[in-house]
Amino acid sequence: MRKLWGGRFVKRTDPLVERYTSSIAVDHRLAKYDVLGSIAHATMLGRCRIIPRREAGRLVTGLKAILRAIEEGRFRWDPSAEDIHTQIQAELAKRVGSTADLLHTARSRNDQVALDLRLYCRDAVGQLRDGVAQAQRALVELAAREDDVIIPGYTHLQRAQPILLAHHLLAYVEMLERDQERLADALKRINVLPLGAGALAGTSLPINRFKVATLLGFDRVSDNSIDAVSDRDFVAELLADLALVAVHLSRLAEDVILWATEEFGILSLDDAVATGSSLMPQKKNPDALELIRGQTGQAFGGLVSLLTVLKGLPLSYNRDLQWDKAALFGVVDGVGEALRVCERLLRHVRIRRARAQQLLAVDTICATDLAEHLVQRGVAFRQAHEIVGRLVRACEREGRRLRDFSLAELRRYDAHFDESARRRLDPRRSVELKRSWGSTNPRLVRQMIARWKARLKK
Ligand code: ARG
Repeated sequence: MRKLWGGRFVKRTDPLVERYTSSIAVDHRLAKYDVLGSIAHATMLGRCRIIPRREAGRLVTGLKAILRAIEEGRFRWDPSAEDIHTQIQAELAKRVGSTADLLHTARSRNDQVALDLRLYCRDAVGQLRDGVAQAQRALVELAAREDDVIIPGYTHLQRAQPILLAHHLLAYVEMLERDQERLADALKRINVLPLGAGALAGTSLPINRFKVATLLGFDRVSDNSIDAVSDRDFVAELLADLALVAVHLSRLAEDVILWATEEFGILSLDDAVATGSSLMPQKKNPDALELIRGQTGQAFGGLVSLLTVLKGLPLSYNRDLQWDKAALFGVVDGVGEALRVCERLLRHVRIRRARAQQLLAVDTICATDLAEHLVQRGVAFRQAHEIVGRLVRACEREGRRLRDFSLAELRRYDAHFDESARRRLDPRRSVELKRSWGSTNPRLVRQMIARWKARLKK
């Protein structure tokens, strides 16, 4: 395929070098954005009379035909092209002949690729935000369906206090909401037009960058041509945001994996979303969740890969930057898929209510409630902690439960215990008596569910 830069060369490029420097295998995915950018550029060139209007019209017609081919899946990327920009240029020449030579006026591949990538990121953010919202909806629906289920809450992976399962699920909704905010915020820095920077210095031709920005829906135009072709912060930022999405999904995956074990047994996965073992007939494995948990490796890898490419890179454009796309595409695809799988899995879990209740039978989980009972009767918290601690020790020593202690026995530990003390050992009362904002109180949690439902309405 004809190179975009053949003029000053006499020799053919070495095939190995040609293959190594080629990026078409990765950047063919930018085809649509490349064409959209070119349509806007050609339109502007015509309106500014930099090229004849009729020729601009022919360029746009040719480009629109290519766009249709891409959208209808008829576009095949050509491994002999150096990159997608070269191939689109060649496709256009096939359609409009030498008029195609006008398209690259006042443009370099440096500002062109930056433009394509920004357009791609803008779409990707939209799709990822939909994916996050879908996962949030699945969490909220599960929380709503099981809004009365109480489970042991853990700190240090040790039983801590009774909580509502719904409260736990909503914690993930909050995490994902912060991801939404970060992605929305990243858009501010993505949605800036770099085109018109030329190779790095701008152009002596009377282009109108603001026109192009309007045509392509950009909020702003970059203010420095050198920065415009060198900057990949917007990619790094998107990757950082996705690294956090991956972290959140991995934590959710881990919770569900633990809960699906016989040891926890809080839920079971539907056959449709579990996998078996080739050797052990009894196994039902959460492979999809493990892949989500492990996908953080890919996500962090993408971020570190790009940051490493950028570090110490002199201004302005350097070919090193070509590595940005492989990192980005893999992570956008991977996290997008993980979000969809996560949603599917959440819609296929069955909560094992009886087992959850069984887990709460060890009533030392209500030890804090007992201490708060004493505090409400004037005992200093430190003292109350100590007193209940001694009771727990007695339970362990004598193999008893807290509820096996009569009031008279309790009072031997502290005279402030009264008849209502033993009722504090009920996990349901434990959650019901919570009153702080943001707590696991069922009334508050139901309010939160309603709030999320309204907020996540499509
Ligand atoms: N394939 C290149 C990239 O992805 C396009 C820009 C090439 N520019 C250049 N001056 N060699 O970055």
